[in-house]
Amino acid sequence: MVDENHITLDGEEYVNNETYQEDDEYDYYYEEPLISLFDLVKEYDDGSVKALNGINLDIFEGEFVSIIGPSGSGKSTLLNMLGALDIPTRGEIYIDGINLLKAKDLSDFRREKIGFVFQLHNLIPNLSVMDNVQIPLMHTGLSSKEMKKRAEEMISAVGLADKKKQKPNKLSGGQRQRVAIARALVNKPSIILADEPTGSLDTKTGAMVLKLLRDMHDAYNVTLIIVTHDINVANLAERTIKIQDGQIIEDKYNY
Ligand SMILES: Nc1ncnc2c1ncn2[C@@H]1O[C@H](COP(=O)(O)OP(=O)(O)O)[C@@H](O)[C@H]1O
Ligand SMILES: [Mg+2]
Repeated sequence: MVDENHITLDGEEYVNNETYQEDDEYDYYYEEPLISLFDLVKEYDDGSVKALNGINLDIFEGEFVSIIGPSGSGKSTLLNMLGALDIPTRGEIYIDGINLLKAKDLSDFRREKIGFVFQLHNLIPNLSVMDNVQIPLMHTGLSSKEMKKRAEEMISAVGLADKKKQKPNKLSGGQRQRVAIARALVNKPSIILADEPTGSLDTKTGAMVLKLLRDMHDAYNVTLIIVTHDINVANLAERTIKIQDGQIIEDKYNY
């Protein structure tokens, strides 16, 4: 018997399942995005300001992405959406399979999945470096001993072991930013969101902070998303997304 899908050889019937094999291969290469944005729109002031104007974007696990655009182009608004710090006017956001707009408790989501590094690093002035870095570990159910161990590990990783008892106001801008990075990473998030992480730093310190973020990305395979208006910073990423007037105007891989 010979037809398209059944072949008989030596009395045994073979089923030609080539199409299924192709599907298997397809499954093998296909990776679900970690982050998917669909037609994201964010309006302010009753719609007179369109900060985001129809963003569609997939970001994959372990990517290092920069988002570049002029001041006012919507970069921070976009990052705030990704970090579930604000909600869009329209559109959908999926992160790690979770529909952010339907999720019940976004504070849990933020604590478990996201590390924030913002330009105004929001370190708490009257807490030591150790205590600042431990903040994301509160309410995680870890023992205080385990919390301290994790914080010490991250503080050492950013090269500030000798400063762990200091208060932030005794540190330089670059050192504070390193504390912010340690804090962002201490709960082992799958995503780090950094908004102009070098914005307030001199060139040399900024380069150190960027190197540290990149090293952390390499070491922990964390998905790193850096917002910047500086093309030199943007070009360090594996992928650069340009936005203008709330829309993506270019999306390219830098290799
Ligand atoms: N809370 C807000 N209320 C009103 N307008 C806002 C608010 N936040 C941002 N905008 C406006 O949205 C646009 C995008 O802002 P933003 O995302 O901060 O840009 P970027 O980070 O690229 O400089 C700008 O026109 C800004 O003025
Ligand atoms: Mg901004």
